[in-house]
Amino acid sequence: MKLTQFLLKNSSIPKQALVDRFSKFSPSPLSMKQFIDFGSANACEKTSFVFLRQELPVRLANIMKEIDFLPDKLLSTPSLQLLQSWYATSLMELVGFLEKDPDNKTILKKFTETLVNVRNRHNNVVPTMAQGVVEYKEAFGSDPVTNQNVQYFLDRFYMSRISTRMLMNQHSLIFDGSANPAHPKHIGTIDPDCDVTEVVKDAFDSSKMLCEQYYLTSPEIDITQVNAKGPDQPLRIVYVPSHLYHMLFELFKNAMRATVETHEMALHLPPVKVRVSLGSEDLTIKVNTDRGGGVPLRKIERLFSYMYSTAPSPVDIDNSRNAPLAGFGYGLPISRLYAKYFQGDLQLYSMEGYGTSAVIYLKALSSDSVERLPVYNQSAIRHYQTSNEADDWCMPSKDPKKLGKYERRSQ
Ligand SMILES: Nc1ncnc2c1ncn2[C@@H]1O[C@H](COP(=O)(O)OP(=O)(O)OP(=O)(O)O)[C@@H](O)[C@H]1O
Ligand SMILES: [Mg+2]
Repeated sequence: MKLTQFLLKNSSIPKQALVDRFSKFSPSPLSMKQFIDFGSANACEKTSFVFLRQELPVRLANIMKEIDFLPDKLLSTPSLQLLQSWYATSLMELVGFLEKDPDNKTILKKFTETLVNVRNRHNNVVPTMAQGVVEYKEAFGSDPVTNQNVQYFLDRFYMSRISTRMLMNQHSLIFDGSANPAHPKHIGTIDPDCDVTEVVKDAFDSSKMLCEQYYLTSPEIDITQVNAKGPDQPLRIVYVPSHLYHMLFELFKNAMRATVETHEMALHLPPVKVRVSLGSEDLTIKVNTDRGGGVPLRKIERLFSYMYSTAPSPVDIDNSRNAPLAGFGYGLPISRLYAKYFQGDLQLYSMEGYGTSAVIYLKALSSDSVERLPVYNQSAIRHYQTSNEADDWCMPSKDPKKLGKYERRSQ
């Protein structure tokens, strides 16, 4: 039975049944081209409405199923309770549109208003979830399996959130009837002609201002651009400038902090070197914090961990606009999600004692930029159910007397 038919027949079904039902559908990833088509001259609000009233509940329900796999003690924290109530309310509100007539203009207007409400309701999802994780870790500690599961879950949960916000933003910006006077060529949040070097400069300037406020000094930027199509060609791709800005701003804050803190006594700060390169497949941006001190290899993956972050206090949540140069440690993991969302990546390479390079990889072609979305299925379930299996690499013995002696393996 088609989903719509099912819901029409069962208008009073409880929330859990809705989640179960919608989670059986896989989310439908959109390509950059499809996002642009939804917003171009022949854009049709009705088509977008009919797609979103089903797709948004599907994406929400898919991730809601995974929330259930978190440890009970984490689920029972006030933060997680609040968060779950937001998701349930939003799901119900969106499902309410399935029976509505897409030809009715008032319905379409109400739908856009609902999207804005849902988006606002979920504004504080990241700090609220972070707060729940911190409360749980402080009260119950954490073990490697829980760490691994929470990390796996949060990458998927925040990715799902990036995607639903993207869908809601596109629809509400395109169909609210008012063009964006500052960026008439933008399609919703997408710039079909995004000048990457401009975004690099913007993000650097904002980070520099913050750095000056905090440390009373800041490094300069040294920027090089390489375009396979010709030396003076601007580097342009179809992208969401706010996503790119977010990633770069985070990398620059980190780079500036590392540079300033390793040169406390120096009169001159080494510049942050940025290289932007456009090839036929990748647009690559490398941010080099040469002489920023670096990070040992053992700690690199930990920098992307949500469980190692410092606590965001409720005060931080309320004052999140006054973001300091280093906050609760979500800069890198969330930036990596933004890069991965359209099939890119973000990687760190470091030489301890010297410096760090952070590299953002994006797809050069819009046809390759397709949403990367989590789906609730057997493989996801298996991830949550794996227990702490024995390591399949030998561990060095800590007992010096046992060195050189053979040990019988326990089976
Ligand atoms: N370029 C760099 N050089 C040296 N250390 C770095 C660099 N970039 C990141 N780090 C280390 O990685 C850690 C994690 O970075 P991340 O941006 O995720 O969190 P944060 O900067 O602590 O807080 P925020 O959430 O505000 O970004 C930093 O605290 C810092 O120790
Ligand atoms: Mg940071």
